[in-house]
Amino acid sequence: MRVDDVGQKMTKMGTSVSSMFSSIAFRYDFLNALLSFGRDRYWRQFTASSIAGEFEGAFLDVATGTGDLAVEVARRSGEKSSIIGIDFCQNMLDKARDKMTKAMPGKVELICAQAEFLPFCDNIFDGITVGFGLRNMPDIERALKEIVRVLKGGGRLICLEFSLPENKIFGRIYSIYLSRILPFLGGIISGNREAYAYLPRSISEFPPSSRLKELMERTGLRDVEAYPLTFGVVTVHIATK
Ligand SMILES: C[S@@+](CC[C@H](N)C(=O)[O-])C[C@H]1O[C@@H](n2cnc3c(N)ncnc32)[C@H](O)[C@@H]1O
Repeated sequence: MRVDDVGQKMTKMGTSVSSMFSSIAFRYDFLNALLSFGRDRYWRQFTASSIAGEFEGAFLDVATGTGDLAVEVARRSGEKSSIIGIDFCQNMLDKARDKMTKAMPGKVELICAQAEFLPFCDNIFDGITVGFGLRNMPDIERALKEIVRVLKGGGRLICLEFSLPENKIFGRIYSIYLSRILPFLGGIISGNREAYAYLPRSISEFPPSSRLKELMERTGLRDVEAYPLTFGVVTVHIATK
């Protein structure tokens, strides 16, 4: 496949993902809190604490959506830090902008861009976060390569993503929740049944931790550590360039 074809394929798939998020942007935060029983806040706080830790630096939040992870990073980083959030869905970014204008004006810059084609020079960020974003990307390896390109040597990538619990009993209960209750509630409240049918599908298709670790190492990251949270419903991967 030629480079142009790869770009076109990604743009097509990207457009459908982007329009799906566009249609649920207005209910996204509410549904996140409801469907995760409020745990989503803790997951993002854990992720942000692993990167920012009160020091000054340049941080990037990829697939920032409505900006909650970027806000947590901004809260934890030093005064002179710069925080940029990128996403290719303008409706999600509009929500992020509303939130940030109230909570922390001028602290986070928001840019409409695609993760696979980041509009930045090489080696400029001290830390990069991506929360619930990689799962939606058609070519995870390509997105990771692009992230690694803009990360400084020694900089860290923190990836927060859904995973499947290992405990068999909890796993069964979670599987019923994921395949029946979540799509039903999400579909009714957002008005987009397909988006919340896609969610469990994308979670089960996302590479398990061992495979993600492999992908990260192949793209130039090292010392990859995995931290499962809430019985493994999500896993935070921390890696260094
Ligand atoms: C599930 S939301 C996560 C938002 C936010 N990071 C959070 O923690 O809630 C996924 C976001 O990824 C964005 N996204 C998916 N694929 C993308 C890509 N290839 N480039 C840029 N943004 C992308 C979507 O537009 C959406 O806003």
